[in-house]
Formats: sequence, structure tokens, C-alpha cells
Amino acid sequence: MMTDSAHISDPGPSSALLAGTVPRAAVGHTATVRVTHWIATLCFVALLVSGIEITISHPRFYWGEEGTVNTPALFSIPIPASRSSVPTGYGYVLPDQNGWSRYLHFQTAWLVIAVGLWYVFFGLLSGHLRRNLLPSGADLSPRALANVIGNHLRFKLAGDEHTYNPLQRITYLLVVFGAFPLMIFTGLAMSPAVVSAFPFVVNVLGGHQSARTLHFFDTLFLVLFVLLHILTVYLAGFRKRMRGMITGGSKEDS
Ligand code: HEM
Ligand code: HEM
Repeated sequence: MMTDSAHISDPGPSSALLAGTVPRAAVGHTATVRVTHWIATLCFVALLVSGIEITISHPRFYWGEEGTVNTPALFSIPIPASRSSVPTGYGYVLPDQNGWSRYLHFQTAWLVIAVGLWYVFFGLLSGHLRRNLLPSGADLSPRALANVIGNHLRFKLAGDEHTYNPLQRITYLLVVFGAFPLMIFTGLAMSPAVVSAFPFVVNVLGGHQSARTLHFFDTLFLVLFVLLHILTVYLAGFRKRMRGMITGGSKEDS
């Protein structure tokens, strides 16, 4: 079993870090965190590209069970479609890429579920989630939160090297235990095979079209997260942070 030794770990209250009292230390990650992170990133890109292609075939969204070109849309994305039957206001139709994109989306969905389970299983067993992602009581105090939010707003992120700051912890937990499970749940709710065996999966969301719309909004949330995630990694010291996430960190980092 892999352990977390010599990696982002056991930092004490990360508010001490914010106060600048924690010495410079490792920014490396265990092999499991690194491998699952980069496979999940590749999966995310594949799911996003294929998901966009799927959206282009019908860029109108609905709520409830039914939704067709003959029913009013909740909202539409102002782009041309790859199906001539969908009214978009444009005088032309985009090339239909639905075949490979659906195929890629569903294959990748299983891979990202497997990798996510591997990460969570390892994270629970090794204590990584408890030590490095769960914020402490001190982290959640209004003073500590105001401090870290203030630092982010002033783009002062360098120095948060020893561990994840409270805002990172809350956001990562929200992504791992909120946004990703919702993506999987709403994805399964759109699968005819799954809902014929377990109808409550779609009923609890209010219908097939609601599941699709929630899946779409969750995509927007994750895209926003990834953009801000990359920006914060850049501001916190891109080379060092990336070295930690790719190689596990070099000697001078530890
Ligand atoms: C090209 C895109 C990406 C880059 C460059 C990147 C980079 C990084 C880096 C450098 C870290 C370590 C941060 C640190 O040490 O302070 C990290 C952690 C993390 N990233 Fe990403 N990332 C990317 C995409 C993603 C995606 C797509 C997701 C999920 C949707 C994601 C979720 C996470 C999570 C949950 C962690 C914390 C992992 C842990 O310690 O358990 N990242 N990322
Ligand atoms: C980060 C992960 C994911 C992203 C960014 C993503 C994104 C998208 C997007 C943008 C669409 C198009 C929505 C539409 O117009 O219908 C879509 C459709 C879909 N996704 Fe995902 N998705 C992800 C994960 C998953 C997972 C894990 C599953 C399965 C468990 C899944 C199953 C589906 C299904 C069934 C559809 C509808 C396909 C169709 O209409 O034929 N997705 N996804």
C-alpha cells in the first residue's frame, strides 16, 4: 500500500502558512495522486470535446421529461446545429460529428469513473483526503477564510507551498465529491439502459431533459473550475507546482 510520506501532508493548521510561519517544504504528490490527476485531466478534455460535439447536434435545452424542436426551449445556445431539423436561425448546418463523439464520451465516462474510484479509495485508505483535503476547524474560521480570500483577490498565492490553503481544500472537495458525482449521476440518468433498470435515477431529477440540462450546467462549473485552477497554479509558481504534480517534486523542493 502506498503512503503519503514526503508529500503534501500533515502541515498543521494551514492558517499558520498564511501567516508566513511555516518553512518552505515539499510540494510533491504521491504517484497515485499524480497518475489519477493526469488521467482524469485527459478524460476531462475528451469528455468536454465530445460533449461539445453532442451539444452541437441539438443546442436547445429543456426541463422535465420531454423536449423537442416543437416544444419551447428553456434556453438555446446561439450557434448553428449539426442537424438540419433543429431550428437555430442560421442558414447552414455544421458537419455531423455525433458518431465518434458519443462513442468517445461513453468510453471515457467509464474510464473517469474507474479513475475517480481509484483516487477516492486510495485517498481514504492512505489518509490523503483527511490530511490534505479536509479543512481543519481553524481553516474554516471567518478570520482564516477572509485572509485567504483576500490573498486570492490580490493574486498573492505564492508561499502556499507546504499544503493546500483552505480555499483550495474546499474547492477540491467540492469538485471531487460534488461536481464529479453529479456529472456521473446526471450522465447515468440520460442512459436508457440505466433508467429502465433504476427509474428513480432520472425521476429524482425531474426527467430526462432536466438531467441533460443539469449535466450541461455542471460542465460549465467544471470548465470554470479548471480555468481558475490553472490560473492559481500559474500564480502560485507554475514550474514548481507542475514539477510536484508531474514528477512528485525534485530534491530541492523537499
Ligand atoms: C491542464 C490542466 C491542469 C493542470 C495544469 C493542473 C495542475 C495541477 C497542479 C499543479 C496541482 C497541484 C497543486 C498544488 O500542488 O498546489 C493540481 C491539483 C489538483 N487538480 Fe489539477 N490540473 C489540471 C486539470 C485538472 C482537472 C481537469 C481537474 C478536475 C476536473 C483537476 C483537479 C485537481 C484536484 C482535485 C487537485 C488536488 C489533488 C490532490 O492533491 O488530491 N485538475 N492540479
Ligand atoms: C467531466 C466530465 C464530463 C463532461 C465535461 C461532460 C460533458 C457533456 C456535455 C457537454 C454533454 C452534451 C449535453 C447535451 O447536449 O446533451 C454531455 C452529454 C452526455 N454525457 Fe457527459 N460529460 C461528462 C461526464 C459524463 C459521464 C461520467 C457520463 C456517464 C456516466 C456522461 C454521460 C453523458 C450522456 C449519456 C450524455 C448524453 C449523450 C446524448 O445525448 O446522446 N457524461 N456530456
